[in-house]
Amino acid sequence: MFLKAVAVSLFTLASASAFAAECAVTVESTDQMSYTTQSFTVDKSCKAFTVTLTHSGNLPKNVMGHNLVISKTTDAQSIANEGMSQGLDKEYLKTDDPRIIAYTKMIGAPEKEDTITLDLSKLEVGSDYTFFCTFPGHMALMKGKVVVQ
Ligand code: CU
Repeated sequence: MFLKAVAVSLFTLASASAFAAECAVTVESTDQMSYTTQSFTVDKSCKAFTVTLTHSGNLPKNVMGHNLVISKTTDAQSIANEGMSQGLDKEYLKTDDPRIIAYTKMIGAPEKEDTITLDLSKLEVGSDYTFFCTFPGHMALMKGKVVVQ
């Protein structure tokens, strides 16, 4: 009886995930200057897609701040370079740059989470996108791939 109930609930879970696209992702960042996620997939069939950046460390954002910026891969390095001169109070980001598709604010202890909703019309299937951190010096280690399908 118990086993049968487990089997039924597993089946329900499996069929639910086969039909519903995953429309949210959480990317964790750390005191080791890293993201714990190397890539995520954005499904264009989603009505809305949210990205949550979390910071699992104990360092404040002026020391080990992280954000998550999304752009075409070819624009990422230049956006990060220009962000450096903006300073922490401007999130190390030239936020009016039209090449930026989406960005979270810079986070660190004690304010350790930010969630954004992507404008899916700005993402094309088959284009090459990157997510990265614009805190000075972080992008070398803090970047990953955004797959759009
Ligand atoms: Cu960072």
